[in-house]
Amino acid sequence: MKSILDFTRAKREEKPIVLIAAYDALMARLLAASEVDAILVGDSAAMVVHGFPSTVHATVEMMCLHTAAVRRGAPKMVVIADMPFLSVRHGRDEAVRVAGALMQAGATAVKIEGVTGHEDIIIHLIGSGIPVMGHLGLTPQSVNQLGGHRLQGRTPEAAERLKSEALALEKLGAFSVVLECVPEALAADITRSLAISTIGIGAGVKTDGQVLVLTDLLGLDAAFHPKFVRRYLAGHEAMLGAVNAFAGDVRAGKFPGGEEVLA
Ligand code: KIV
Repeated sequence: MKSILDFTRAKREEKPIVLIAAYDALMARLLAASEVDAILVGDSAAMVVHGFPSTVHATVEMMCLHTAAVRRGAPKMVVIADMPFLSVRHGRDEAVRVAGALMQAGATAVKIEGVTGHEDIIIHLIGSGIPVMGHLGLTPQSVNQLGGHRLQGRTPEAAERLKSEALALEKLGAFSVVLECVPEALAADITRSLAISTIGIGAGVKTDGQVLVLTDLLGLDAAFHPKFVRRYLAGHEAMLGAVNAFAGDVRAGKFPGGEEVLA
């Protein structure tokens, strides 16, 4: 993809959109060499990279550093950066400052969780030239309010609310919306009702695209395996094996060997 316009084009042409969350230049280089459409610099960086218990701990500085690193690794890709916790709840000026910092760090667009109560901010950012991706359903920044990481939109009222939020986001000018942990039938209904694309995570197969965190699909965290993640690699086991092989070689006096010794 060359720009955010390609998200809606892909939906129109019924081409599934592939988004991956990554946080550093090395992984961005890998994705730039891949067939993935775009990179999300998710605030999940706070958990995956920094070891915090939730995305509430992501800061503007943290998100800017990761965004800049990803941009250096993938100079030509569409890069979407998460607006961190509460950054759209301190008024317009603060939201513009944070979104501006992310754009100057290299983002093509920003992602904002929720919509109710910050509609004016979304309009203002888009009006200022900053493309906005929405994020509905399980919005991890509100995990304390939601009572944990659980399926959203299960009752008819909650489903109706979610659908009207998605429609509101489209009307406000968002170019795409992530649907996280919502029933497949609801995600399909929202997807049919929108002209903009939906990107699912734990939302079934009927969204316009899918997003996963790179470290999850590579199976790097042995302790984290939610039902909606498919591991395409036993990354933890492979890396542990490599590290232990190195340790074994050092202890056995087998590393460095002939070709690794500098003359
Ligand atoms: O922070 C993140 O990585 C995300 C995706 C999982 C959608 O928001």
